[in-house]
Amino acid sequence: MKDVVEETTTLDFQKLHSEGKMKGPIPGYDKMNMISSTGQVQLLQFFIRKLKSRNILEIGSYMGYGTFGMAEAMAPGGKVTGIDIEPYFCDFVNKTARQRKLNIEVKQGSALPVLESLAKEGNKYDFIYVDCQKSEYCDYFKIIMDNGMLVPDGMIAADNALWSGHSIARSNHSGRCLDDFNSLVAQDTRVTSALLPCYDGLLLIQHRVS
Ligand SMILES: C[S@@+](CC[C@H](N)C(=O)[O-])C[C@H]1O[C@@H](n2cnc3c(N)ncnc32)[C@H](O)[C@@H]1O
Repeated sequence: MKDVVEETTTLDFQKLHSEGKMKGPIPGYDKMNMISSTGQVQLLQFFIRKLKSRNILEIGSYMGYGTFGMAEAMAPGGKVTGIDIEPYFCDFVNKTARQRKLNIEVKQGSALPVLESLAKEGNKYDFIYVDCQKSEYCDYFKIIMDNGMLVPDGMIAADNALWSGHSIARSNHSGRCLDDFNSLVAQDTRVTSALLPCYDGLLLIQHRVS
Protein backbone atom coordinates (compact mmCIF):
# COMPACT_ATOMS: atom_id res chain seq x y z
CA MET A 1 0.00 0.00 0.00
CA LYS A 2 2.90 2.36 0.84
CA ASP A 3 4.45 1.82 -2.58
CA VAL A 4 1.13 2.70 -4.27
CA VAL A 5 1.17 6.04 -2.45
CA GLU A 6 4.83 6.57 -3.42
CA GLU A 7 4.05 5.74 -7.05
CA THR A 8 1.15 8.23 -6.93
CA THR A 9 3.40 11.03 -5.63
CA THR A 10 5.73 10.57 -8.61
CA LEU A 11 2.95 10.91 -11.21
CA ASP A 12 3.48 13.69 -13.72
CA PHE A 13 0.07 14.28 -15.29
CA GLN A 14 1.37 16.84 -17.82
CA LYS A 15 3.99 14.38 -19.07
CA LEU A 16 1.58 11.42 -19.21
CA HIS A 17 -0.87 13.60 -21.09
CA SER A 18 1.70 14.82 -23.63
CA GLU A 19 2.84 11.20 -24.18
CA GLY A 20 -0.79 10.23 -24.88
CA LYS A 21 -0.92 7.94 -21.82
CA MET A 22 -3.61 9.97 -20.07
CA LYS A 23 -6.89 11.30 -21.46
CA GLY A 24 -8.15 13.35 -18.53
CA PRO A 25 -8.56 17.08 -18.29
CA ILE A 26 -5.36 18.11 -16.44
CA PRO A 27 -6.61 21.33 -14.72
CA GLY A 28 -9.13 19.51 -12.51
CA TYR A 29 -6.74 16.73 -11.54
CA ASP A 30 -4.80 16.96 -8.28
CA LYS A 31 -2.83 13.74 -7.87
CA MET A 32 -2.79 13.57 -4.06
CA ASN A 33 -6.31 14.90 -3.67
CA MET A 34 -7.68 12.08 -5.81
CA ILE A 35 -6.37 9.23 -3.65
CA SER A 36 -8.61 7.89 -0.88
CA SER A 37 -7.29 8.66 2.58
CA THR A 38 -5.81 5.95 4.80
CA GLY A 39 -8.57 6.36 7.40
CA GLN A 40 -11.26 6.04 4.76
CA VAL A 41 -9.74 2.86 3.30
CA GLN A 42 -9.48 1.43 6.83
CA LEU A 43 -13.19 2.16 7.28
CA LEU A 44 -14.01 0.35 4.00
CA GLN A 45 -11.88 -2.58 5.16
CA PHE A 46 -13.78 -2.64 8.46
CA PHE A 47 -17.14 -2.99 6.64
CA ILE A 48 -15.78 -5.51 4.13
CA ARG A 49 -14.44 -7.72 6.94
CA LYS A 50 -17.63 -7.36 8.98
CA LEU A 51 -19.83 -8.27 6.00
CA LYS A 52 -17.39 -10.95 4.77
CA SER A 53 -17.67 -9.38 1.30
CA ARG A 54 -16.31 -11.48 -1.53
CA ASN A 55 -17.32 -9.78 -4.77
CA ILE A 56 -16.30 -6.15 -4.68
CA LEU A 57 -16.73 -3.43 -7.29
CA GLU A 58 -14.92 -0.10 -7.29
CA ILE A 59 -16.12 2.63 -9.64
CA GLY A 60 -13.10 4.90 -10.05
CA SER A 61 -9.89 3.05 -9.14
CA TYR A 62 -7.15 5.61 -9.83
CA MET A 63 -3.76 4.14 -8.76
CA GLY A 64 -5.37 1.41 -6.70
CA TYR A 65 -4.99 2.57 -3.11
CA GLY A 66 -8.62 1.68 -2.35
CA THR A 67 -8.49 -1.34 -4.66
CA PHE A 68 -5.53 -2.97 -2.88
CA GLY A 69 -6.93 -2.01 0.51
CA MET A 70 -10.27 -3.67 -0.24
CA ALA A 71 -8.54 -6.76 -1.70
CA GLU A 72 -6.60 -7.10 1.55
CA ALA A 73 -9.86 -7.26 3.53
CA MET A 74 -12.08 -9.34 1.21
CA ALA A 75 -13.18 -12.86 2.10
CA PRO A 76 -11.08 -15.78 0.76
CA GLY A 77 -11.69 -16.49 -2.92
CA GLY A 78 -12.89 -12.94 -3.51
CA LYS A 79 -12.24 -10.53 -6.33
CA VAL A 80 -12.11 -6.76 -6.70
CA THR A 81 -13.29 -5.47 -10.06
CA GLY A 82 -12.38 -1.87 -10.74
CA ILE A 83 -13.38 0.61 -13.43
CA ASP A 84 -11.31 3.57 -14.59
CA ILE A 85 -11.24 5.66 -17.73
CA GLU A 86 -7.47 6.19 -17.68
CA PRO A 87 -5.45 3.40 -19.33
CA TYR A 88 -2.31 4.36 -17.38
CA PHE A 89 -4.02 3.85 -14.00
CA CYS A 90 -5.65 0.58 -15.11
CA ASP A 91 -2.34 -0.79 -16.40
CA PHE A 92 -0.52 0.15 -13.19
CA VAL A 93 -3.09 -1.53 -10.92
CA ASN A 94 -3.46 -4.64 -13.09
CA LYS A 95 0.31 -5.06 -13.43
CA THR A 96 0.88 -4.61 -9.67
CA ALA A 97 -1.98 -7.03 -8.89
CA ARG A 98 -0.45 -9.67 -11.19
CA GLN A 99 2.96 -9.26 -9.51
CA ARG A 100 1.32 -9.75 -6.11
CA LYS A 101 -0.96 -12.58 -7.30
CA LEU A 102 -4.04 -10.67 -6.19
CA ASN A 103 -7.45 -11.29 -7.74
CA ILE A 104 -7.99 -7.76 -9.03
CA GLU A 105 -9.09 -6.64 -12.49
CA VAL A 106 -9.54 -3.01 -13.42
CA LYS A 107 -11.57 -2.55 -16.56
CA GLN A 108 -10.62 0.42 -18.69
CA GLY A 109 -13.43 2.56 -20.00
CA SER A 110 -16.07 5.11 -19.23
CA ALA A 111 -17.88 4.02 -16.07
CA LEU A 112 -21.48 4.04 -17.36
CA PRO A 113 -21.05 1.71 -20.35
CA VAL A 114 -18.69 -0.56 -18.40
CA LEU A 115 -21.21 -0.77 -15.56
CA GLU A 116 -23.99 -1.54 -18.04
CA SER A 117 -21.97 -4.36 -19.59
CA LEU A 118 -21.17 -5.81 -16.13
CA ALA A 119 -24.92 -5.69 -15.42
CA LYS A 120 -25.73 -7.42 -18.72
CA GLU A 121 -23.28 -10.21 -17.86
CA GLY A 122 -25.26 -10.75 -14.63
CA ASN A 123 -22.50 -9.69 -12.21
CA LYS A 124 -23.54 -9.18 -8.59
CA TYR A 125 -21.55 -7.55 -5.81
CA ASP A 126 -21.49 -7.68 -2.01
CA PHE A 127 -19.72 -4.35 -1.66
CA ILE A 128 -19.47 -1.41 -4.08
CA TYR A 129 -17.22 1.61 -3.59
CA VAL A 130 -18.31 4.60 -5.69
CA ASP A 131 -15.54 7.17 -6.19
CA CYS A 132 -15.86 8.44 -9.74
CA GLN A 133 -17.49 11.20 -11.81
CA LYS A 134 -19.80 13.15 -9.49
CA SER A 135 -22.35 14.03 -12.19
CA GLU A 136 -22.89 10.30 -12.82
CA TYR A 137 -23.53 9.08 -9.24
CA CYS A 138 -27.33 9.01 -9.75
CA ASP A 139 -26.90 6.91 -12.90
CA TYR A 140 -24.46 4.51 -11.21
CA PHE A 141 -27.00 3.99 -8.42
CA LYS A 142 -29.91 3.42 -10.84
CA ILE A 143 -27.95 0.91 -12.96
CA ILE A 144 -26.81 -0.98 -9.85
CA MET A 145 -30.26 -1.13 -8.23
CA ASP A 146 -32.40 -1.63 -11.34
CA ASN A 147 -30.25 -4.53 -12.53
CA GLY A 148 -29.95 -6.31 -9.18
CA MET A 149 -26.18 -5.78 -9.06
CA LEU A 150 -26.16 -5.37 -5.27
CA VAL A 151 -26.92 -8.58 -3.36
CA PRO A 152 -29.55 -8.46 -0.60
CA ASP A 153 -27.84 -7.00 2.49
CA GLY A 154 -24.96 -5.79 0.28
CA MET A 155 -23.47 -2.35 0.80
CA ILE A 156 -22.54 0.66 -1.31
CA ALA A 157 -20.13 3.26 0.08
CA ALA A 158 -20.21 6.48 -1.94
CA ASP A 159 -17.38 8.96 -1.45
CA ASN A 160 -17.65 12.76 -1.50
CA ALA A 161 -21.30 12.89 -0.42
CA LEU A 162 -20.59 16.23 1.30
CA TRP A 163 -18.21 17.65 -1.35
CA SER A 164 -16.70 20.06 1.19
CA GLY A 165 -20.22 21.23 2.11
CA HIS A 166 -21.15 22.14 -1.47
CA SER A 167 -23.76 19.37 -1.63
CA ILE A 168 -25.63 20.78 1.38
CA ALA A 169 -25.38 24.35 0.05
CA ARG A 170 -25.90 23.25 -3.57
CA SER A 171 -23.22 25.84 -4.32
CA ASN A 172 -21.49 24.32 -7.36
CA HIS A 173 -22.24 21.82 -10.12
CA SER A 174 -20.74 18.74 -8.46
CA GLY A 175 -22.34 19.78 -5.16
CA ARG A 176 -25.79 19.88 -6.78
CA CYS A 177 -25.19 16.50 -8.44
CA LEU A 178 -24.20 14.99 -5.09
CA ASP A 179 -27.20 16.54 -3.32
CA ASP A 180 -29.44 15.03 -6.03
CA PHE A 181 -27.73 11.68 -5.43
CA ASN A 182 -28.12 11.89 -1.62
CA SER A 183 -31.85 12.70 -2.07
CA LEU A 184 -32.35 9.93 -4.65
CA VAL A 185 -30.89 7.38 -2.23
CA ALA A 186 -32.85 8.73 0.77
CA GLN A 187 -36.13 8.33 -1.15
CA ASP A 188 -35.44 4.84 -2.48
CA THR A 189 -37.35 2.28 -0.40
CA ARG A 190 -35.13 -0.59 -1.65
CA VAL A 191 -32.30 0.69 0.55
CA THR A 192 -31.49 2.19 3.94
CA SER A 193 -28.72 4.74 4.19
CA ALA A 194 -26.64 6.87 6.53
CA LEU A 195 -24.40 9.78 5.67
CA LEU A 196 -21.21 9.70 7.73
CA PRO A 197 -19.87 13.26 8.08
CA CYS A 198 -16.25 12.07 7.99
CA TYR A 199 -13.58 12.58 5.32
CA ASP A 200 -15.52 14.27 2.48
CA GLY A 201 -18.77 12.60 3.47
CA LEU A 202 -19.30 8.88 3.02
CA LEU A 203 -22.83 7.80 2.12
CA LEU A 204 -23.41 4.23 3.29
CA ILE A 205 -26.22 2.43 1.52
CA GLN A 206 -27.51 -0.98 2.46
CA HIS A 207 -29.81 -3.09 0.33
CA ARG A 208 -32.87 -3.99 2.41
CA VAL A 209 -33.45 -7.70 2.72
CA SER A 210 -37.08 -8.05 1.57
C1 LIG B 1 -11.03 10.07 -6.87
S1 LIG B 1 -10.27 9.04 -8.03
C2 LIG B 1 -10.51 7.43 -7.34
C3 LIG B 1 -9.64 7.17 -6.14
C4 LIG B 1 -9.59 5.71 -5.74
N1 LIG B 1 -10.88 5.16 -5.48
C5 LIG B 1 -8.70 5.52 -4.52
O1 LIG B 1 -9.15 4.85 -3.58
O2 LIG B 1 -7.58 6.02 -4.48
C6 LIG B 1 -11.44 9.04 -9.36
C7 LIG B 1 -11.05 8.18 -10.55
O3 LIG B 1 -12.18 8.12 -11.42
C8 LIG B 1 -11.71 8.12 -12.76
N2 LIG B 1 -12.82 8.64 -13.60
C9 LIG B 1 -13.29 9.90 -13.65
N3 LIG B 1 -14.35 9.97 -14.48
C10 LIG B 1 -14.54 8.72 -14.97
C11 LIG B 1 -15.50 8.13 -15.85
N4 LIG B 1 -16.47 8.85 -16.40
N5 LIG B 1 -15.40 6.81 -16.08
C12 LIG B 1 -14.43 6.05 -15.51
N6 LIG B 1 -13.49 6.55 -14.67
C13 LIG B 1 -13.56 7.86 -14.40
C14 LIG B 1 -10.47 9.00 -12.76
O4 LIG B 1 -9.61 8.64 -13.82
C15 LIG B 1 -9.89 8.72 -11.37
O5 LIG B 1 -8.86 7.76 -11.46
